[in-house]
Amino acid sequence: MKRALISDIHSNLEALRVVLDDIRQQQVSEIYCLGDVIGYGPNPCECLDEIMKRCKVCILGNHDQAAQFDPEGFNPVALRAVYWTRDQLDNGPGGASRVNSRWDFLGELTRMHSEDSSCYVHGSPREPTNEYVFPEDVYNHRKMESLFGMIPQLCFQGHTHIPGVFTSNLEFLTPEECRFEYRLTGEKTMINVGSVGQPRDSDPRACYTIVDGDRIVFRRLAYPVEVVAKKIYAVPQLDNMLGDRLLAGR
Ligand SMILES: [Fe+2]
Repeated sequence: MKRALISDIHSNLEALRVVLDDIRQQQVSEIYCLGDVIGYGPNPCECLDEIMKRCKVCILGNHDQAAQFDPEGFNPVALRAVYWTRDQLDNGPGGASRVNSRWDFLGELTRMHSEDSSCYVHGSPREPTNEYVFPEDVYNHRKMESLFGMIPQLCFQGHTHIPGVFTSNLEFLTPEECRFEYRLTGEKTMINVGSVGQPRDSDPRACYTIVDGDRIVFRRLAYPVEVVAKKIYAVPQLDNMLGDRLLAGR
């Protein structure tokens, strides 16, 4: 069975649509979303509607949480985007019942999902919503050993927007380094599935991952990034750097 793993959509509808179209063509049976459906981008309601329709599992991201509760640790640019996103959700299309169903969906998101010796989180197995696991953390043996000690066999995560594979002998492999396909070895492995709507690995293309048996496939897809940047520039509450970073993939 093929499963698609998407994460960090960040209200980027153009990227999400391209990814969902690609998923349709890959004969994937189900989609799991690892959080941050909203935040930063211009189309929170529309992205939520797609995720609610298409995803079997959806995990709570820190931006999904920030829209609902007073956010902690957000910089001023992110904070302004949170408040604008809240306003969009309160006044979203489809009338009161659609508005309520989007808030209900956000309110019911789980922090972690476990299934078949795999766990699915937004951040890390230790702190599922907020902890980052960056590529350079492979040099922090204490942190990585603690994280590997907490996972059953596999852990799928997002949050950093940097796709790749963390091996149990503490290496990080980028999608390019494994030619966009990694074969699981039977050892414990953590996989960052990348970001659909705000990649930060200097490749502006949308990223997601397909799991097919022991194959982990990274997919990269061009989407009309200029269209999204223009939408961001047109909203005063969304800082222009949020558009600029999409163009650069950072
Ligand atoms: Fe994110």
